[in-house]
Amino acid sequence: MSDSFNRQYRPAFHLAPPQGWMNDPVGFIHWQGAWHLFYQYHPHAPHWGPMHWGHARSADLVHWEHLPIALTPDSAWDQGGCFSGSACESADGSLIVMYTGIMPDAEGKPNQIQCLARSSDGIRFDKSHLNPAIGKHQIPEDANSFNFRDPRVILRSGTAYALIGSSDSAGHGQVLLYHSPDFITWKFKSVLLKGNDSQGTMWECPDLFTLDGTDILMVSPQYMPPDGDAYNNLHSVIALTGTMNWEQGCFHPASQQPLDWGFDFYAPQTALAPDGRRILIAWMDMWEQSYPSADLGHGWAGAMTLPRELTLRNGRICSQPVQELSHYHTNPQEWKPFILKDSMTINHSLSCFELICDIDPLSSSSFGITFFTGSKEETRLTFTAETLRFMLDRSDSGLGSGGVRQVAIDPGCETIHLQIFMDRSSLEVFINRGEAVISARVYPKYGHNGLTLWSQGNCVIMELKLWDLEVS
Ligand code: FRU
Repeated sequence: MSDSFNRQYRPAFHLAPPQGWMNDPVGFIHWQGAWHLFYQYHPHAPHWGPMHWGHARSADLVHWEHLPIALTPDSAWDQGGCFSGSACESADGSLIVMYTGIMPDAEGKPNQIQCLARSSDGIRFDKSHLNPAIGKHQIPEDANSFNFRDPRVILRSGTAYALIGSSDSAGHGQVLLYHSPDFITWKFKSVLLKGNDSQGTMWECPDLFTLDGTDILMVSPQYMPPDGDAYNNLHSVIALTGTMNWEQGCFHPASQQPLDWGFDFYAPQTALAPDGRRILIAWMDMWEQSYPSADLGHGWAGAMTLPRELTLRNGRICSQPVQELSHYHTNPQEWKPFILKDSMTINHSLSCFELICDIDPLSSSSFGITFFTGSKEETRLTFTAETLRFMLDRSDSGLGSGGVRQVAIDPGCETIHLQIFMDRSSLEVFINRGEAVISARVYPKYGHNGLTLWSQGNCVIMELKLWDLEVS
């Protein structure tokens, strides 16, 4: 990004495009000693356009180096765009990516087909001359060729499987399963899972992995109807715990949960770390809203969430920020335990920080933290004891979309642990060590950095720590 770019909203420790537009993370993998994260990319303007695969590499998931564009929509079968997909390492050690090519048919309608490309150095990708790997004629009857995308490749005992997002003729989401012995010949195997009326229309960006012996299918349903505090965005993300039967090619779901309760979380993808951790990254934005960094002419839009480690606790999928972030802590501040009544303002100068706060609500009927506080605007996080709910309110945050999002915490919990990351135009609130997360883009108009803790009634702040986080 050139130095003349306006950096007002530019994240310091989240991946954002060097310029132009970014959406889904794709091809996320740890390969030959480094993390590779690709993303849906329109390099020429800060809005969605012909999709490329942007590419970044990292040793630690925090400091990212931008690499040359990996895929450009320049072939007959992907001339309309190189849509989302995934990566895996082939038997010979090379990096294989499978993605959706957008190929206009005779009437100019954008058919979706699956394509392969391969790289031996992790930088330059050669598209297969056998593309498309999975074409229109391989789509089963009850699925349509305009909703057939985002292949997730999984290698299992020498067989390559591809999970593909789809919708059926009844307007429900579904995941289709294909398999191949050699990445060349692909066959349709089964409908892995079909959604119902309460689970949205098209299922985008499927992913399947195992946590502590439990299989988890994750999809991003379009137009998922709200269910109380959950699924209040235009499009949502669901994680289904259950059992995958590879013989039958079916997933048997046992429970469903959101992975984030905020405004800006979509199309997540996971990758396995060499030490066995399952790491998730999502697009930290939402479709069809305003993107102030683009509207103001800053030349870029879109960012990724922090990388989050997934674990299973009492059947719940928890998401915690990766511990590598702590390597970038500077200027530590720490407070001794104290009783908070009314409010307390913390002085700090940066808008990129991590805050940890352990609270015993005691007799407090509500407490909270306000961020980006100034005379004209603020973003409020409020806990209400009676309902056990956290609410993030960005109605008075500044530019961009407003609204509130809520999540209830477990009734059994006596103290509340918060870990919060603010990065110029984002807030990520991790509650009770990842039991719930609220992610939001926030665009303070006047550049205020006020940070205030407050309580109605007394609460005990048992631990309070703050670090600046700057990743150059
Ligand atoms: C999800 C998605 C994918 C598609 C891509 C296009 O956000 O709609 O289904 O492949 O974005 O950029």
